[in-house]
Amino acid sequence: EAPVPVIAIDGPSASGKGTVAERVARELGWHYLDSGALYRLVAVAAARAGLSLDDEGRLAETCAAMTIEFRDGKAWLDGIDASEDLRSEATGIAASKVAAYPRVRTVLLTRQRGFRRLPGLVADGRDMGSVVFPEARLKVFLTAALPVRAERRHKQLMEKGMYAKMPDVVEDLRRRDERDATRPVAPLRHYSDALFLDTSGMTADAAVATILGWWRERSEP
Ligand code: CDP
Ligand code: CDP
Repeated sequence: EAPVPVIAIDGPSASGKGTVAERVARELGWHYLDSGALYRLVAVAAARAGLSLDDEGRLAETCAAMTIEFRDGKAWLDGIDASEDLRSEATGIAASKVAAYPRVRTVLLTRQRGFRRLPGLVADGRDMGSVVFPEARLKVFLTAALPVRAERRHKQLMEKGMYAKMPDVVEDLRRRDERDATRPVAPLRHYSDALFLDTSGMTADAAVATILGWWRERSEP
């Protein structure tokens, strides 16, 4: 029996991973995993329970106990809609703090692998190709220059009615990327077997077409 194929898309914050990965999945008719949403949900669960972000043990327990569901375009945490809390920059920052804890990452490992189902999975995050799905058939490191990423995130936040100042968005992204890249476990980096794609001057559609082209090259006999 052939293993379920995986395409891994990793990269820094607001590079377009989610947008591009979801469209690639749709084009192929595959499942999609937004692994960042799982880390964000741990942060939301911690906030709901009033937990300190310094308490690795309690955070890992909360993470193991939480029920999550992606349904009707929404994220449900323990049966309550968490979609709005999920996308704020405050949640992104808290997620990157809880994501530095090895015990939290271990608990999420099994959950992430559970998304791998036929006919295939497109997964985006920081360590999809390096840790979670090392056997992925195609690995992409998707990035863009910091000012471009800040522009994209700022636009996204404004469209959701979340007011943010441009200099704050730049600073949040920079600090979060630095924390993600320097942590000892599963750091964000361009690992050697990932194809590099800089989308600074590229539309999301062009990035999707590039990745689909790479996939076709690989999957042809
Ligand atoms: O998942 P990640 O944080 O990497 O990025 P995202 O949430 O997909 O956000 C990227 C934003 O930039 C979205 O609003 C996209 O429409 C836009 N965008 C893109 O994803 N890729 C491009 N090449 C150009 C714009
Ligand atoms: O959308 P954006 O790129 O801003 O963030 P995200 O992908 O939703 O991830 C939020 C945070 O979760 C990141 O800053 C990482 O610290 C963490 N994360 C991770 O450690 N490993 C992953 N595979 C995905 C996210």
